[in-house]
Amino acid sequence: MNSNEKKGIFISFEGGEGCGKSTQIKILYKYLLSYGLDVELIREPGSTHLGEKIRNILLNIKDLDICAESELLLYEAARAQIVKEKIIPALESGKVVLCDRYIDSSYAYQGYGRGLNLDIIDKLNAFACKNIIPDKTIYLRVTTNIGLFRATGSNLNDADRIESEGLQFHSKVSEGFEKKAQQENHRFVIIDTAEEKFDTQLKIFESLQALFPQIEPPSIDKINDIVALIKQEKNDR
Ligand code: TYD
Repeated sequence: MNSNEKKGIFISFEGGEGCGKSTQIKILYKYLLSYGLDVELIREPGSTHLGEKIRNILLNIKDLDICAESELLLYEAARAQIVKEKIIPALESGKVVLCDRYIDSSYAYQGYGRGLNLDIIDKLNAFACKNIIPDKTIYLRVTTNIGLFRATGSNLNDADRIESEGLQFHSKVSEGFEKKAQQENHRFVIIDTAEEKFDTQLKIFESLQALFPQIEPPSIDKINDIVALIKQEKNDR
């Protein structure tokens, strides 16, 4: 399958630490489900057996020495598995795929953050993702130090391996996202996240409206209900 043959809709979400991506993607997921759409929610790295194991190595094991090149290859390995096992079958069967991070994270984190060669990253991304490119990429822009503080609080002990990198690293990551968003502005939608959850979700939905002409934009009540449901599900876990 190449990207022209896919029947489903593919949307990725990107952004630096603490940009609110995971909450927003869940709101959109539940909203689309409520319209009866067949939606698959995927996170990178993870979402497959192999991917979750790689995720554990990449994020949770803190005393492991992982050089930048190995880090990149591990993210790409997790990605190759997700594309083959989840994304391609879902798109072929006409589903909506929402992906929490994808190729642009490698460009921003390993390219700009770690300083690896950007052309090599583009090539490895193309190899791992079999040229399955999102129809739209929602880039949630956040001021780096605010996002980092949101993600880690003042206690860096709980931060994962990537979050624990300093402000300088994360500022470069943001620069990487900005650059990619500029380069591929037909695919990227940039949304500033300084506002209320509701406004951000509304902007996200509006930017995707052309992909879902049959669906009305969500009301504030609907979004609040979904946010309450997500909180409830988190508490029940
Ligand atoms: P996660 O807990 O999913 O954090 P977030 O909510 O910020 O997405 O952790 C994923 C981490 O992996 C995050 O710090 C970004 C990083 N990452 C890369 O460095 N390169 C990549 O290619 C991907 C997909 C993620």
